[in-house]
Amino acid sequence: MKRIAIFASGSGSNAEKIVNYFESSQQISVDFFLTNNAQAGIIERGKKLGVPTIVFDKKTFTRTDKIVNILKKQGIDWVILAGFLWLIPDNLIKAYPNRIINIHPALLPKYGGQGMWGHFVHEAVLANKETESGITIHFVNEHYDEGKIIFQAKCEIAANDSAEDIAAKVQVLEHKHFPEVIEQLVLAQ
Ligand code: GAR
Repeated sequence: MKRIAIFASGSGSNAEKIVNYFESSQQISVDFFLTNNAQAGIIERGKKLGVPTIVFDKKTFTRTDKIVNILKKQGIDWVILAGFLWLIPDNLIKAYPNRIINIHPALLPKYGGQGMWGHFVHEAVLANKETESGITIHFVNEHYDEGKIIFQAKCEIAANDSAEDIAAKVQVLEHKHFPEVIEQLVLAQ
């Protein structure tokens, strides 16, 4: 069995889709969620889904090995970032080389970097009058949104789309593709 842990800072809708996708898998299990936000929606989702959630603070995450030690002790093979907003510290990247994956709600390398998350991304895409947006799934390195790209999918932006409309189209792509891409990667290793 390959074991996954999912980090999220917010609602956790992608995390829930991933859990549902692997629910009856004999090869991949989602063992727990981790969040930096004690108010995050992912905590309620975890309760509903029966997935334990670990809440941690910035000092623990950036200045200690506690999170890495928990992941290793639990036998976690892959770390999935699904709407997680903090930079991943060096100790975690070194502990999981090419085993940390992020999803970004735009077509990187455009609209990435610190502060580019959630609605900020869609508002920037709209302001630049882009005719398409999409999702990027990529390996995580020590810089925001700069690791090797694994997968992208696109959606069209209509002339009268709002940022919320773009967000909805992007979310459809995320929910469809993220679990499938994770499955392909994990089973290929
Ligand atoms: C997703 O759209 C994800 O791409 C984005 O946060 C959202 C989380 O939604 N991530 C980033 O913006 C990272 N820079 P969710 O909590 O409903 O899964």
